[in-house]
Amino acid sequence: MLKYLRGPTSQCCKCCKSSRLATILWVCGVLLFLVIVGGFIRSKIPRKIICSNEASQAFLDELCHNYTVGVASGSLCEPLCTGKIVYRECLGHGVTPHVLKANFQGEEIILKVKIIMEKQLELNPAHSLRFNREYFEKSAKLQYSKFILDDKTKVNKKVFDYVYSECANQDGILPYQKMWYCQSLLGREFLLSILLKDTNSLPKIYGTCGNVFAVENTPDEKLEGSLIDGRSWSTRARLGLGLLDMIEKLDNTPYGTLYLCDIRFPNFGAVKVGSDYVVKPIDLDFTWLPAQMKQVMIGVSNKTCHTDEHCHYQACLSRCNYKTGYCEPDTYSNNLVSICRMIFTTNAKVLKYGIFDKDLPVNFQSRLTILLKKCSLPSVTPWPRTSPELMKELRAVLRASIHSNNL
Ligand SMILES: Nc1ncnc2c1ncn2[C@@H]1O[C@H](COP(=O)(O)OP(=O)(O)O)[C@@H](O)[C@H]1O
Ligand SMILES: [Mg+2]
Repeated sequence: MLKYLRGPTSQCCKCCKSSRLATILWVCGVLLFLVIVGGFIRSKIPRKIICSNEASQAFLDELCHNYTVGVASGSLCEPLCTGKIVYRECLGHGVTPHVLKANFQGEEIILKVKIIMEKQLELNPAHSLRFNREYFEKSAKLQYSKFILDDKTKVNKKVFDYVYSECANQDGILPYQKMWYCQSLLGREFLLSILLKDTNSLPKIYGTCGNVFAVENTPDEKLEGSLIDGRSWSTRARLGLGLLDMIEKLDNTPYGTLYLCDIRFPNFGAVKVGSDYVVKPIDLDFTWLPAQMKQVMIGVSNKTCHTDEHCHYQACLSRCNYKTGYCEPDTYSNNLVSICRMIFTTNAKVLKYGIFDKDLPVNFQSRLTILLKKCSLPSVTPWPRTSPELMKELRAVLRASIHSNNL
């Protein structure tokens, strides 16, 4: 009886197990399908969401009107307002008010407005106040020191010479309205672009018109991976080498390390030169020279914490001091750690793939995996320098993998 009963039950169990297995497989299949299709669609959807050609064109028309009536100036106004610079499309998909792509003498350039001064009234052409250079420097320094924080070096003169020559009239006088526009230029990205313009570490700066500054087009599409990654290994390895070169340049500017804290794919651009890539940061809103970085970390040390994660300032990592319950006033990461953690690898967070998250060449897989783990780890000592050995090893393995790929 028992036997009889057991027979059909176990058969029934088997059939119920296999139908459960089928359901699980079916659900997995559907999920996989959705992930693949989602990834594919995501890669096809243009990322420009919050800008329109109409609004961008209207903004440029107004700027050129102001140039014509003499309240805006800058070396780019003439080409921009006489049709030599041709608007193509807007690229904004974040917080920056205007990021436009345009064509100038056969080359693509990017027009940016990072800050919009609030009081539109200030542009009133009837306003007849005029400033001299001394006044400009005094007021600009106030704003500028927030961004560069280095009053002692000759940095100020270099930057102010450039800005003043762009903003003022030819007679060296700065009318009120031009001062208004000029104030909008004096943000971190513009100032750092001038400060570091000879280092080739940032997109080249071409000039200004009113509150717009123009920089080299350094497209960001190359870096982010996807589930179905069409890029060859040698492309990804060359992008990796480009990123390592970028880190080296940013670590060694004439003013010390430029720390990058907003590490996301759309904030880096890559330009192909021969078969290699030159990679540059294209959004400098959260980048800091050493003196500023110290201030930023002092700010972080006001935070209470239970774990190290509470002490992350974007990609720049501090630690929790468990005795005091406050974050340490130091960073334990550097640009290499940040790029390794968030660009080389992302561990496929929310469908985001780092350039080395998948499909490593078999012969180099284990070496590269070890190196990627090593370079992603924050240091145990504060303000770590980039490890030259790790840079060397990473470069060597990437170069060797390209070489063997080409054989
Ligand atoms: N120099 C550049 N070259 C090419 N594209 C750029 C450049 N600067 C910005 N972009 C594009 O515009 C987007 C937004 O610019 P960004 O300065 O990052 O503004 P936000 O502060 O809104 O993130 C970037 O993610 C990129 O797609
Ligand atoms: Mg950005």
